[in-house]
Amino acid sequence: MINGEKTTGQALRWGMVGGGRTGQVGYKHRTGAQRDGTYQLLAGAFDLDAEQGRDFGRNLGVAEERCYATYQELIASESQRADGVEVVSVATPNFSHYEITRALLQAGIHVVCEKPLFFTVAECVEIKKLAEEKGLIVGVTYGFTGHPLVHQMAAMVAKGMLGDIRLIDLQYTHGFNAGDDSDASEAVKWRTNPKTSGPTFVLGDIGTHLYYLSEVVLPELKIEKLLCDRKSFIASREPLEDHATVLMHYHNGARGRLWVTSVNAGNMGSQRYRFVGSKASVEWSDAHPDQLSYEIQGEPIRILHHGMPYLEAESLALDRMGALHTEGLGDSWANIYLWIAQAIRAQQRADQVFLAGHHCPGIDAGTEGVRWLENCVRSADADASWVEYT
Ligand code: NAI
Repeated sequence: MINGEKTTGQALRWGMVGGGRTGQVGYKHRTGAQRDGTYQLLAGAFDLDAEQGRDFGRNLGVAEERCYATYQELIASESQRADGVEVVSVATPNFSHYEITRALLQAGIHVVCEKPLFFTVAECVEIKKLAEEKGLIVGVTYGFTGHPLVHQMAAMVAKGMLGDIRLIDLQYTHGFNAGDDSDASEAVKWRTNPKTSGPTFVLGDIGTHLYYLSEVVLPELKIEKLLCDRKSFIASREPLEDHATVLMHYHNGARGRLWVTSVNAGNMGSQRYRFVGSKASVEWSDAHPDQLSYEIQGEPIRILHHGMPYLEAESLALDRMGALHTEGLGDSWANIYLWIAQAIRAQQRADQVFLAGHHCPGIDAGTEGVRWLENCVRSADADASWVEYT
């Protein structure tokens, strides 16, 4: 159980780029990072609108002189300070992740970056090399994978409780883009433009969450080939997609089916994960993150609750609230940020043994998300044909 006790020593000196007053994801970062006092927010270039960013930073308690107009100013100034930030989170639109991450690493600052990490695998490989040369961590905020019951599913798979894995059924759908974009917000505008979003819209925006979570539950499973069919129901979003289905063949013969869309009008189901084995299945949704459906063939369905002693140790170790009390998205983000802090502290003391055994969504997790997107686009562009996974 996690109870706020410090496991990483002094709070990491922390800054943010993006995640300003109107940013959708910024508060999730602050909720996660500040939960256990593991990070202290000391600096930021929070907003494209410098004045609004400064005002917002002040209201967050950041000193006036450490609320910067641009990330370049932040890096230049913080690098000169003895008490400059050690780690910066990047919560900006996709197109700027690469350049901001690269600049931070070059300045010797650890990075926490949003997904989809970058536009290409080649960029990921280059950044991984840079991070290794500098001895720095790049964490990636796949924010849903800190839920204790996600790790319950992983433990059940690892212990053979489902038998041989046969089917992987993944769905992340909503209807927020069912209408046209005539009065679209900035967040929708950049998501539907390839220059700012990258080669995908919903596949990168929400599909990467599905893919990474399935990797956490099934770390051994590798995709052999894949077919992606994507479409935009709103013409102005083309060539990007607001809907996609992906079929996947895995090396062990398992089959996968993934559906992402932002035009599922009226739907508030969000994410659903079902993993089917030869003996039993598990199903989990972020709409009810406290509950896991465990279905053994021929027996009544069991609903497992977070925090209960019958769960696997791997799940109980991540629980914060205890059974009966709601464990939610903020708790999941807190676990992600804690893992990243533990990785940074281990890197700082050159503890390779700890790092080798440590679970943390890092540069490799980000890279695999981008690789999956590249394969999806290659298939979709070939008229939704099967492609070997590369
Ligand atoms: P948004 O458009 O709502 O907010 C972006 C924020 O970044 C704004 O405050 C904007 O002023 C600021 N910004 C943009 N460029 C900047 C720059 N160069 N310097 C400083 N500030 C800058 O975008 P949203 O939805 O918050 O998404 C941001 C990133 O987070 C995206 O990569 C998105 O995919 C990801 N995201 C991840 C989620 C998750 O669960 N991990 C959830 C939502 C978004």
